[in-house]
Amino acid sequence: MLRGFFRAGQQVLQTAKQRKFKVGRFYSYSSVTSRVYNSSDMIDIDFRSDTVTKPTDAMRQAMASAVVGDDVYEEDPTVQKLERKSAEMIGMEAALYVPSGTMSNLIAALTHCNQRGCEMITGDKTHMFLYEQAGVCQFGGVSINTVKNLPDGTFDLAEMQKHIRSRDLHEPTTALICVENTHNKCGGRVLPLSWLDELVEISKKRNLPLHMDGARIYNAAVYLGVPAKRIVRGFSSVSVCLSKGLGAPVGSILHGPKEFIARARRLRKALGGGMRQCGIIAAAGIVSLDSMIDRLAVDHANGLALAKGIAALNHPLFKVVVDSMQTNILVFEVDPKRVDAKEFCAKLQETTDEQLSALGGKDICVKAVPFEAQLIRLVINHHITAEMVDLALQKIAVVMKEYN
Ligand SMILES: Cc1ncc(COP(=O)(O)O)c(C=O)c1O
Repeated sequence: MLRGFFRAGQQVLQTAKQRKFKVGRFYSYSSVTSRVYNSSDMIDIDFRSDTVTKPTDAMRQAMASAVVGDDVYEEDPTVQKLERKSAEMIGMEAALYVPSGTMSNLIAALTHCNQRGCEMITGDKTHMFLYEQAGVCQFGGVSINTVKNLPDGTFDLAEMQKHIRSRDLHEPTTALICVENTHNKCGGRVLPLSWLDELVEISKKRNLPLHMDGARIYNAAVYLGVPAKRIVRGFSSVSVCLSKGLGAPVGSILHGPKEFIARARRLRKALGGGMRQCGIIAAAGIVSLDSMIDRLAVDHANGLALAKGIAALNHPLFKVVVDSMQTNILVFEVDPKRVDAKEFCAKLQETTDEQLSALGGKDICVKAVPFEAQLIRLVINHHITAEMVDLALQKIAVVMKEYN
């Protein structure tokens, strides 16, 4: 039977080679070094992100029956319900539903830094600095002043204060400090409450607003066992993503005082983020807040099992720090002299004859992200089960052996 799969796969590959098309799970056939096939029995385990999830049945039902109106006229009752609920949970006066985390952070930063020539301070590994195209510079004339992020997602607070500008005529004006919680690039690390409290004190003394990119704040809340509003105490604004671990198909929410949100609403319109009858998607967001938070503990347990499983393979070229695994994001290092992260991730996706026989005939496709030349990221989402973690570990073990 498997031979049939091999033959069918080879035919597809052959055709693709002729046409130079992407085949099945491969982004480029040139990366395929051995015999491959696409079987209908393929076990697809997608660790690329917690953004790749499909809406749950409850979300689909809520979306189908959502009562909607024009949200630009502030007439969508479902959006208003979501915003009220979220503001209450975060402990802030008001909230604004926006299309994405990127737009939410951009609106927040531009609302705080409301003059060209302003500057925001943030960690050098934050999403806002690395992965949002420096939108604040592009659209607002705001510069980004980075402080070195420590491995736990924090930064040295004394060092950070050196980055706050004086009122010198030659310098930009510091107008905002931003942090990320949990910290994606630092492997889903949760910022310690004591560190956040100290940061809040400093910001008060220096009279500077604080923004939290809390794309995954509920992962932090579940890890710490405290309500999200405790984590953001003393912050001026917070962005929360519904479309990550909480599984909604789309949407983020920006929170802050009423007056701040009123100004943010104007900016959202200017950026084209007025989504009209978006109660249809906000309805899924309400399901997220109602029923997808507590279950994040399951993702964290699966993440820990994955980290422990890879560490237990004890391969000298792969370094997993199990103690730093707190939530749903595992980032681990490979020895850059011997392993190329991109190539390793490609191998996790492909299936060779040798792998197939080592895996007892199971065609396991593991999708991971090569974060940097020496860093690999695996993210747990709510579709990933403990059994899938076990299967993924079997595939990872077989691929790692190829580097012996
Ligand atoms: C920490 C963090 N902030 C913001 C974002 C941006 O969210 P979006 O993809 O909805 O723009 C992401 C996306 O992965 C993220 O990980």
